[in-house]
Amino acid sequence: MARSKSAETSDPTHTDAADGANHRLSTGVTGLDEVLDGGLLPRSAYLLRGGPGCGKTTLGLHFLTTGTRSKERVLYISLSEPEGQLRRNANGLGFNLEGVTFLDLGPTSEYFSKSESYDIFSPSEVEQEPLTRQIVQAVERLKPQRVFLDSTTQFRYLSTDTFQYRKQVTSFLRFLVNHGATVLFTSEGTQETPDDDLKFMADGVIELAYAPEGRTLSVIKFRGSSFLPGDHSMRLGADGMAVYPKIFSTKIRRDVEEQHRRIVMIDSIAGYALSMRGRDLTTNLHALGMYLKSVGVTLLLINETENITGEFRATDGNVSYLSDNIVFLRYLELDGQMRKAIGVLKKRAGDFEKTLREIEITRYGLKVGKPLTGLRGILGGTPEIIGAKPA
Ligand SMILES: Nc1ncnc2c1ncn2[C@@H]1O[C@H](COP(=O)(O)OP(=O)(O)OP(=O)(O)O)[C@@H](O)[C@H]1O
Ligand SMILES: [Mg+2]
Repeated sequence: MARSKSAETSDPTHTDAADGANHRLSTGVTGLDEVLDGGLLPRSAYLLRGGPGCGKTTLGLHFLTTGTRSKERVLYISLSEPEGQLRRNANGLGFNLEGVTFLDLGPTSEYFSKSESYDIFSPSEVEQEPLTRQIVQAVERLKPQRVFLDSTTQFRYLSTDTFQYRKQVTSFLRFLVNHGATVLFTSEGTQETPDDDLKFMADGVIELAYAPEGRTLSVIKFRGSSFLPGDHSMRLGADGMAVYPKIFSTKIRRDVEEQHRRIVMIDSIAGYALSMRGRDLTTNLHALGMYLKSVGVTLLLINETENITGEFRATDGNVSYLSDNIVFLRYLELDGQMRKAIGVLKKRAGDFEKTLREIEITRYGLKVGKPLTGLRGILGGTPEIIGAKPA
C-alpha cells in the first residue's frame, strides 16, 4: 500500500514538519529503532509476521504504550485474544495500559451458543459487516495516531475469496492511514495460510522467528528508509522485548573514521556477543581492539559479572587478556550495609595502587573515597576488619 501523501489530518498537533523525512515514531523496543534507522515512518502500515509465541503481541504493546507515554491516542484492535487476558498478560510484563483504547472483536463465548445462523450463512456474510462498522466508528471517534491490529489472519477467514480479502485489507489499511494512524498489523503466515500478499501491501515488514539458537528479528522491507539488514538477536523476558542489532566491526570502523571518534564504549560485552549471534566473540573483539589501538582510539569494554558478591572473576568469556587495563567495581557488605568499591586489577604500562577504594554515586557523579585499609576478604564481598574478635 502506497503511503498517502494527501492524508487528511484531524490531529490538531499535526504540522507539515511532522511528515518530514526525519520524523520517526519510536517502537518502544530497545534496539529496534536502531535497526529501523531511527524508528517507523508515521502514517504508514507495517506488517509484523511470526509464528505462535514469537512476540508479535509483545511488540505491539511496546508500540502502543510508547505512544501513550507521549500522550498520543492509541487503539488496540484485537481479533484473537480477549481484552481481559491481554490486560492480565500485559500487566505481568509491566506494561501500563492506561490510555490504550481496546476494540475487542474476537468471538465471545455467546458465539458458541447462538451460532444457528452459521448453519445457513457463511461466516463472511454474517460477521463482516458489523466488524467493519465497529472499526470505522472507533477510528472516527478516537482518531488514533497508533493502531495495533492483532491479527489480520482472522480477516482472511471472514472473506469470501482471496481477491476480496486483498481488496478489503488494502482499503482498511488505507482508511486507517488516511485518518492519521501509523499501523502495525500482525499475521501468522503459516504454510496452510501463506501471507505473501500482505508483504506487498505493507510499507514495511518486520519478521519474528524462533530458532533453536534463539529468537531473531529481521526487517525485510521498509519503504522510504534504510535499515540494518540481517537477523538480529531478540529476547523476550519479564520486561518485554529487546533487540540486539547485529554490528560488524565495519560499521564501527566507518563511524570512527567519519566522525573522528576518540573513545568507543561497548556496553556491554554480553549485548555485543548477542548481536554477533554465535560468531567468535574473542576473535572479533581482539580484531576491533587492535584496529582501534592502531588509530589511537580508546576502547572501553563494559562487562557485567554475574554474582553481586562471592567468588570474584575479572570477566566472563576470557576477554580479560584483550585488555590493557582492568578496572573493577564490586559490592561489599560491611556492618550489614551494601557498599561499593573500585579497584585496579591490571595496568599494562606503569604502576598502580593495589588497595580498593569505596565509591559513591552522587548527583555530582562518581565519588572515589579513601583507600579501604584494615580489611580482609574484600574481593569475597564480605570483608572483615583485621584484628576484630570473632563473633
Ligand atoms: N513474563 C514473561 N517472562 C518471560 N517471557 C515471557 C513472559 N511473558 C511472555 N513471555 C514470552 O513471550 C512469548 C509470547 O509472546 P507474544 O504473546 O507476544 O507472542 P505472539 O507472537 O503474540 O503469540 P501468538 O501467536 O500466540 O499470539 C511467550 O511464549 C514467552 O516465551
Ligand atoms: Mg499474540
